[in-house]
Amino acid sequence: MSGHDSSTRLALLGGTPVRTAPWPQWPARGPDEERVVLAALRDGDWGGFPLPNERSATFAAAFAERHDCEHALCVANGTVSLEVALQAMGVEPGAEVIVPAYTFEATASAALFAGCVPVFADIDPDTWCIDVGSAAALITERTQAIVPVHLAMNIADLDAIGALAGKHGLAVLEDCAHAHGARWRGRGVGSWGDAGSFSFQSSKLMTAGEGGIVTTSDETTLDRLHALVNCGRQRPGAAEPAPVIGHNYRMTDLQAAVLEVQLDRLDHQHEVRARNASRLRAAIEHIDGLSNLRIDDRVTTQAIYQFVFRFDSEAFAGLDRDVFVAALAAEGVPADGRFYESLPVSELLRPDPARYTAWSEALARRPTAECPQAERLAYGESVWLPHQLLLGTEGDVDDMVEAVLKVHGSASDLAGLETAEVERLRQARSAR
Ligand SMILES: Cc1ncc(COP(=O)(O)O)c(C=O)c1O
Repeated sequence: MSGHDSSTRLALLGGTPVRTAPWPQWPARGPDEERVVLAALRDGDWGGFPLPNERSATFAAAFAERHDCEHALCVANGTVSLEVALQAMGVEPGAEVIVPAYTFEATASAALFAGCVPVFADIDPDTWCIDVGSAAALITERTQAIVPVHLAMNIADLDAIGALAGKHGLAVLEDCAHAHGARWRGRGVGSWGDAGSFSFQSSKLMTAGEGGIVTTSDETTLDRLHALVNCGRQRPGAAEPAPVIGHNYRMTDLQAAVLEVQLDRLDHQHEVRARNASRLRAAIEHIDGLSNLRIDDRVTTQAIYQFVFRFDSEAFAGLDRDVFVAALAAEGVPADGRFYESLPVSELLRPDPARYTAWSEALARRPTAECPQAERLAYGESVWLPHQLLLGTEGDVDDMVEAVLKVHGSASDLAGLETAEVERLRQARSAR
């Protein structure tokens, strides 16, 4: 444990924080990244054209193999990867696309960008992934696709989703932005649906600052992807050239160079995080008011993008979840609560009805269904810890647990505090 005084006075109220030592840095980086970036810089072949450029092609082949897919195509980020994947899978403009209500807004906005209508299914409160029963109840004759998100540290129930999609003839796009290298029943995520989409944005488990990739084993989907991300140009040898107006959504080869190194690091990082996460889970089991996610036995390789758990305010003297995470952060553990909104009420999803006409027409036909589980998590119960906190030692985990226990023990000192007051205390602390 890191040294700290024995006082139980909370750091948010002027006490000594449990943790002042730095956490493992993210992105992880070292001489390997320096070597490949320098080599790419020197040879001058930086861009993504011609598509796929050499480094992007090599990286995409390795990434596809790691996820048990035939193909992968690098793109600019994990939002456009969803957008082009939906189109390449043949999902038509105006079609309804079922997405979970608890995820990053891009899962839904990508459907809008593809001209489709996102329809929100509630999530399973034990796994935080899409509730397949809730999704089934939303299917209409307009539904053409479902987009399960493998959220935080879990994998959506791919067997149940596959069965539902098979029964109703739906396309499946896995949003794997959090799940690089994860496996369901021994097979890579991104290989279970018609396509998979990954993000390489800075916080993600593999990163080049920005970036994305689409995985698929379907040749026609790959042909269409090429045209959509490369200004409409057909993939050389494409079986069915289809005229499209494409964007320039190419990834640069500088990014691909970094990603090759990040892929090599992934398995070792998974092992370290898994070891530390199991220590943290074991501690959480014994803390009144906190509960772990249910991780299915079919998750055979877990990817932990964020370590998440559920907070019950009653066991913490009625403390608001946002006050709890502020108190944890003051103790030196960078926790977040409102990491995601519930999408049906999110401020970031207020599309202009004139531009997204299919959506406004759909809303006029049928209002968005309530998603109470997503709301409970988003605004009252979820706690998120970034994955790099688990890339260190057992002592780091013990510091996290000690901070949680300290807040638990002195929760009544904070009970009744308004969020505005907490913000004032937080700022006063950082000004010291
Ligand atoms: C679940 C999910 N989907 C999609 C995205 C979009 O990825 P990007 O930020 O690379 O556009 C993100 C990430 O930020 C995400 O968390």
